[in-house]
Amino acid sequence: MRALATEAVHAGRDDLARQGLHAPPIDLSTTYPSYDSRGEAARIDAFATTGADPEGPPVYGRLGNPTVARFETALARLEGTESAVAFASGMAALSAVLLVRSSLGLRHVVAVRPLYGCSDHLLTAGLLGSEVTWTDPAGIADALRPDTGLVMVESPANPTLAEVDLRAVAHACGSVPLLADNTFATPVLQRPVEQGARLVLHSATKYLGGHGDVMAGVVACDEEFAGRLRQVRFATGGVLHPLAGYLLLRGLSTLPVRVRAASANAAELARRLTADPRIARVHYPRIGGAMIAFEVHGDPHEVIAGVRLITPAVSLGSVDTLIQHPASISHRIVDEGDRREAGVSDRLLRMSVGLEDVEDVWTDLDNALGAMPLRGAGLHRYAAPPRGATSHSTPAPAIGH
Ligand SMILES: Cc1ncc(COP(=O)(O)O)c(C=O)c1O
Repeated sequence: MRALATEAVHAGRDDLARQGLHAPPIDLSTTYPSYDSRGEAARIDAFATTGADPEGPPVYGRLGNPTVARFETALARLEGTESAVAFASGMAALSAVLLVRSSLGLRHVVAVRPLYGCSDHLLTAGLLGSEVTWTDPAGIADALRPDTGLVMVESPANPTLAEVDLRAVAHACGSVPLLADNTFATPVLQRPVEQGARLVLHSATKYLGGHGDVMAGVVACDEEFAGRLRQVRFATGGVLHPLAGYLLLRGLSTLPVRVRAASANAAELARRLTADPRIARVHYPRIGGAMIAFEVHGDPHEVIAGVRLITPAVSLGSVDTLIQHPASISHRIVDEGDRREAGVSDRLLRMSVGLEDVEDVWTDLDNALGAMPLRGAGLHRYAAPPRGATSHSTPAPAIGH
């Protein structure tokens, strides 16, 4: 087994040197000619039975694409799964998982808040015919029903960075598949299948692509489930474009380097924010990562309006630092009461830390925080200690264990 950094660079490209290629080819075909229609019929029948990738050319672009398949192979290697199936977005990927289960009559989902706002909405609204029971991790076993088809968690969760013990949750699921959304951690920090999850979801729009220029989703899982996902993808059409597949494969090659560098920046910023009297609370996960959430004593909208280097935008996982106000944007669609109960306060800001020099990001954030009200009376404006100096505060514990 090769190390993660090696897989990131080589997986999905193993055949290239033999073909005399260095960069992976981009196959833009929507259809694949064949003079053998009996053979095509047999290949379509085989796909309808197992959902396995057809041997040879894919017949039609909605059945599969060789460039996208390279990304799928690489991501499966990084997550330690047999297979991976890519979709047009993270939401298309989650939709396909729900459809696979509901097609078997298993419409009930058990889920732990918070989840990304649209994932929460998709489950709560029952758009795809699912019914959700929200619970905390300790309540999962009791929430299971004979028609439960899925248990869903995010860890660290969007936007509070709450972590769950995936191993304990997987145990509580019994034979019901556990879907872990690993968008925030990436396989660089955590591989959920090693802790018992059956399905690993990514909004590949985030760290996997890594440059804010590709929208995609992917589910890493065993080949049996992957076959069903491919069949749903074929039937419903949420395919990933080959150019996006190419960009994702390229993104994966720098994933470990980007995640580690951005995480080091984030850990330093979390340390400074924790010691800052303008900040009420900092959420930074125990497993680390490049995401920080923090609550201010003052008006969070002023911080968003005040940044100049940091990009005031939703989404995450790009090379530049992004900040957003979850109650206004990423989690706006979630009912206000449910949002607050899940720990998403109106004072919460979520920051995706990028690859800039950490001092420049801190300077911008410090300016944007400006003259925010301070914790307690008589405190002076916080001046950052030199990089590497030990903080007197310990980071606030992540909530929601
Ligand atoms: C944790 C998480 N899961 C899923 C999604 C949905 O992904 P996409 O926007 O690619 O559809 C997002 C998007 O922000 C997310 O943050």
